[in-house]
Amino acid sequence: MFEDFKWYKHLGQHQTAWAGHILYIYNQIPEWKPKTIVELGVYLGHSLATMAESCLDNDLDTKLYGIDHFMGDEHAGKFGREVEDIATECLSEYPNVTLIKKSFNEALEDWDGAIDLLHIDGRHFYEDIKEDFTNWSKFVPIGGHIIMHDSQETERGFGIKRFFEELQEQHPDWEYQERKESHGLAICTKRSEL
Ligand SMILES: C[S@@+](CC[C@H](N)C(=O)[O-])C[C@H]1O[C@@H](n2cnc3c(N)ncnc32)[C@H](O)[C@@H]1O
Repeated sequence: MFEDFKWYKHLGQHQTAWAGHILYIYNQIPEWKPKTIVELGVYLGHSLATMAESCLDNDLDTKLYGIDHFMGDEHAGKFGREVEDIATECLSEYPNVTLIKKSFNEALEDWDGAIDLLHIDGRHFYEDIKEDFTNWSKFVPIGGHIIMHDSQETERGFGIKRFFEELQEQHPDWEYQERKESHGLAICTKRSEL
């Protein structure tokens, strides 16, 4: 199904929890035309590589930044150097991608640019998503997009579902969609400041 992607030769043998959203985001990128994309949580690179490939295929001059300390976490599992090596090799296919090997909070200290599309996919406890969203969504301009994976998961302390529900109550003027497949993808269009 994904054989035509450049990332397939690196990642095709690995499962991805993002499978049901791959074609969606590939097709959505040319609609949104983001100038800058930031991904919090790269892991092997399926979602970041897909977004990068769509930008290249659609002649978009987009810069993509993937941030990960490549140490794993309670939800993705703890892992060693092999995940970083696979992600680095795969993402080297995409000249529009910069990998930042830092914690999200360390990377935040150096970040000061607009983010037209923010993908939050780090550790998934409620306090994590709240912190990542609060810290990073301020860089998203009005009209920009924030997507959060695992919005359908509630086991193992996953808190995206609760956070997404609260966000919709607190900001009814924003636009929201949710894709329920592949653990859920919450999609927000920012319409006012937090
Ligand atoms: C669910 S995986 C990301 C999945 C990826 N988006 C994909 O397409 O498969 C979560 C990743 O976030 C990273 N991570 C979790 N918390 C982090 C933090 N505070 N700072 C940096 N990286 C973090 C983990 O190392 C892991 O690789």
